[in-house]
Amino acid sequence: MGRRLAAKITGVAGYVPPRVVTNADLEKIVDTTDEWIRTRTGIRERHYVDKGMAASHLATEAARKLLAEKNVAPEEIDLIVVASVTPDMMFPATACLVQDRLGAKNAWGFDLSAACSGFVYALTVGAQFVAAGTHKKALIIGSDVMTSILNFEDRATCVLFGDGAGAVLVEPAEADGEGVLDFHNDVDGSGGCFLFMPGGGSLNPPSRETVEKKMHYVHQEGQQVFKYAVRRMAEVACQLLERNGFSSRDLKLVVPHQANLRIIRAMQDRLGVDDSKVLVNIDRYGNTTAGTIPLGLRDALDDGRLQKGDLVLLVAVGAGYTTGGILLRWAY
Ligand SMILES: CC(C)(COP(=O)(O)OP(=O)(O)OC[C@H]1O[C@@H](n2cnc3c(N)ncnc32)[C@H](O)[C@@H]1OP(=O)(O)O)[C@@H](O)C(=O)NCCC(=O)NCCS
Repeated sequence: MGRRLAAKITGVAGYVPPRVVTNADLEKIVDTTDEWIRTRTGIRERHYVDKGMAASHLATEAARKLLAEKNVAPEEIDLIVVASVTPDMMFPATACLVQDRLGAKNAWGFDLSAACSGFVYALTVGAQFVAAGTHKKALIIGSDVMTSILNFEDRATCVLFGDGAGAVLVEPAEADGEGVLDFHNDVDGSGGCFLFMPGGGSLNPPSRETVEKKMHYVHQEGQQVFKYAVRRMAEVACQLLERNGFSSRDLKLVVPHQANLRIIRAMQDRLGVDDSKVLVNIDRYGNTTAGTIPLGLRDALDDGRLQKGDLVLLVAVGAGYTTGGILLRWAY
């Protein structure tokens, strides 16, 4: 039996910065080709911020769109959780910056660090507060400016990522069986060495040496992460379905983290769902880390692929390793 939370998503919005960077643009910066990037990752283009735009700005834009669309006043928000590995600063938390810009004066909030699983973790946390009855309108945001930590001399990582944010509104579920039906999150810290940014924290505080050694960039062993992501995303998806008495046939839509199209396809093969049930937008955004899943939900809504009553699965693997999955009965 699952871990039902009396909380549901009642709105979704995304925001990506306007500047589009194609694979052809990257060919001019690093030794790569459009063909390699498309066939090895599925990415055609991604969006990059311009100087001065940080995670809080993307998050605020997504949140503003969401509040306007839902006709919700900022004062009605009582909790803001921002998932990010690229916060504006070490502190204050990005959630505080967003709270101020929105004028959400009745909200408290905090940041959560779980890399590519960040949105799933944040939604799990926010839904708990709403299900407990202590909060009525939680803003859950995934926002990352990956370009701030990319090494544009490392072709194996710099082509993979983009900048972007997505936000959802979480409110109490009214009917039994709508909203969050179950979740599973876990950590395997032994995988920390395969995807990390070694510099800038308390272990290696910023110094001339950390900059010279390029420690403020993403370091990754891609094949290790690839294999782990396929295995764990498929396992968590199957586990969530099974323990709730569903099969993959019952799913209307899977919204997976968008890290690599080959990861998504291998995961869906193991799960036994065809392309029509899997949201893919990595071709346009690349990997926006905590932004991918809410951006995917927004695209699914815009394309008419998500209707009230649909069984939806969100699933992600990220640095840590972190893994997260949420099974939802879509509620609006
Ligand atoms: C990074 C990733 C795309 C690399 O794909 P891959 O098929 O594993 O490729 P490899 O790392 O084996 O590299 C194969 C070759 O392509 C080269 N290559 C790597 N990046 C390249 C690029 N952008 N353009 C051209 N060639 C590239 C490598 O140098 C290597 O060349 P070699 O055989 O001469 O040494 C893939 O491992 C991946 O997506 N991993 C998961 C990453 C991820 O999603 N992380 C986010 C967190 S979930």
